[in-house]
Amino acid sequence: MTMREKIEEAAARYPDQRSAIMPALLIAQREHGHLPGLVLEEVADILGVERIWVYELATFYTLFHTEPVGIFHLQLCDNVSCMLRRSDELLRHLEEVLGIKKGDTTPDGLFTLSTVECLGACEMAPVMQVGDDYHGDLDITRIDALLDRLRATVRQATGADLAAAGPPGE
Ligand code: FES
Repeated sequence: MTMREKIEEAAARYPDQRSAIMPALLIAQREHGHLPGLVLEEVADILGVERIWVYELATFYTLFHTEPVGIFHLQLCDNVSCMLRRSDELLRHLEEVLGIKKGDTTPDGLFTLSTVECLGACEMAPVMQVGDDYHGDLDITRIDALLDRLRATVRQATGADLAAAGPPGE
């Protein structure tokens, strides 16, 4: 099924095509990995809605990416509950071990690091979303173990020892 067919099928469930923009963007992002301008225009054209409406949603919600992201998008919550449980320390640690700043992607394309608003999982603060998964009660040890597991996933999938390269400058 093409992206257009998937979007049309999803949009058929909504009486107002404007309401179908969110599910359409999710479909488009799954297809393309991120949502560049041409894809946003295509989504708007398929739904027959104003392009600005599509653009507004795609740039407002952190679950949508208008720029390419790494294989693993690390989205660390820095809202109140997580901040009170030292998410700032975790951010500094992630920046250090990955060799990048918030908003950047590692040169090997493995990790993109972002901070986001409340993920709605304050009871397990501090929390980080990676793809569709939430990781809570994080501390530096758990962060390091998580990064190791993610690198191992790629190693197993590709057979390449990407993890051995480590962060840039090492
Ligand atoms: Fe971080 Fe709610 S404040 S999940």
